[in-house]
Amino acid sequence: LTTVRELYKNQDKYIGQTISVGGWVRSIRDSKSFGFIVLHDGTYFETLQIVYHDKMSNFAEISKLNVGAAIIIKGELVATPDAKQPFEIQAAQIEIEGASTAEYPLQKKRHTLEYLRTISHLRPRTNTFQAVFRVRSLIAYAIHQYFQDRDFVYVHTPLITGSDAEGAGEMFQVTTLDLKDVPKTKEGQIDFTQDFFNKPTNLTVSGQLNGETYAMAFRNIYTFGPTFRAENSNTTRHAAEFWMIEPEIAFADLNDDMMLAEGMLKYIINYVLEHAPEEMNFFNQFVDKGLIERLTHVASSDFGHVTYTEAIEILEKNNDNFEYKVSWGTDLQTEHERYLTEEVFKKPVFVTDYPKDIKAFYMKMNEDNKTVAAMDLLVPGIGEIIGGSQREDDFDKLVNRMKEMKLNEEDYGFYLDLRKYGSTRHAGFGLGFERCVMYLTGMSNIRDVIPFPRTVNNCDL
Ligand code: 4AD
Ligand code: MG
Repeated sequence: LTTVRELYKNQDKYIGQTISVGGWVRSIRDSKSFGFIVLHDGTYFETLQIVYHDKMSNFAEISKLNVGAAIIIKGELVATPDAKQPFEIQAAQIEIEGASTAEYPLQKKRHTLEYLRTISHLRPRTNTFQAVFRVRSLIAYAIHQYFQDRDFVYVHTPLITGSDAEGAGEMFQVTTLDLKDVPKTKEGQIDFTQDFFNKPTNLTVSGQLNGETYAMAFRNIYTFGPTFRAENSNTTRHAAEFWMIEPEIAFADLNDDMMLAEGMLKYIINYVLEHAPEEMNFFNQFVDKGLIERLTHVASSDFGHVTYTEAIEILEKNNDNFEYKVSWGTDLQTEHERYLTEEVFKKPVFVTDYPKDIKAFYMKMNEDNKTVAAMDLLVPGIGEIIGGSQREDDFDKLVNRMKEMKLNEEDYGFYLDLRKYGSTRHAGFGLGFERCVMYLTGMSNIRDVIPFPRTVNNCDL
């Protein structure tokens, strides 16, 4: 079978030739002695028009086809210079591979994204989700290419762990214990010695801690895998299961980290604009007007920089308009992040040097002893897309911080070891993959950029 992509890319080669294509019926319209089918084969954003005639032996069956049916067409590709599409197929033969019923949920009309979420097994057959998931695939490829071209080693970090990388306690526990009859210790605690791993374990919230160990062996590494968070945040930007890209670089500080992040994001933008022009035009026209112009501008201009302390000064002036008022020490909410990047800087902006108390235990303490060498990258339309930091590489300082934060040192033995055996300055960040897809497509709900989203109260399919 030829693909519709191939026909579009090399049309001169195929015009006048007899070819075969397989795909799904998007729409069908028949007259007495002929009819038209619009076919989508999934290989290309554009569709293909098919003309069929009553000279075909199964004309009656073809005319009765419903939207959604899978068919294979053989016929001549003819140029249609006056039509919207550059060519169509004059069918000589149409094989019905799998019929579809009249109840097929995707009829030729506009469906809401909310409705399409209820049929996540069929929504990839729509234009919007064809575009979203092809671009998602290309972004993943671009990210690998960016790091591989720079000799970063791709490290597969574990999904089941015994530690909490962020120290925030937002983990899904993993257990083989029977919840109806959980074994208890004499003290009445759950007896995890009877569990598979002989101790409590959970799904990872980040591959960073394991990633750091490989950066101390390979210098530059990255992870790219699923992470899980049991945050009770029912928002358009939070998922319980999402993918994260976490590079870690040795002999590097926070500035190197920000340069890496900026370079990566610009690379991805350029890659997608170049490799998915049809999809990006679709988003630009139907999802987020002005998207392409904005992204093009972002890819060719410098990102903004502001310290947390400066950001608070800016935000305090606008406190009247915020639901949550800010002052030095408060964590930034989405409304503050979006105000900074959309109203003040009007471009992606790095916020650096956050108060230690609102950041994770592993971040390097600044000389003021109040702030840490952290950076968040905020982008218009979303807010935080990247979170990163230079890591605390001093053994004593790290142990002190862990004590202050009441973390169990035993769970982090391997991590502390790194600070004993050839410790060096190093830094890294985490890019939320789904938030990156949202940013590049203009889609405004994280549920619409994940094939089968897992969010609060939702684990269907
Ligand atoms: O800021 P976070 O929590 O940072 C870390 O996990 C670090 N270990 C990263 C590192 O330094 N190696 O998460 C990183 C990014 C966020 O900026 C956000 O884009 C995304 O991950 N993220 C989520 N995306 C979707 N749903 C959630 N619940 C998310 N939580 C974080
Ligand atoms: Mg963060």
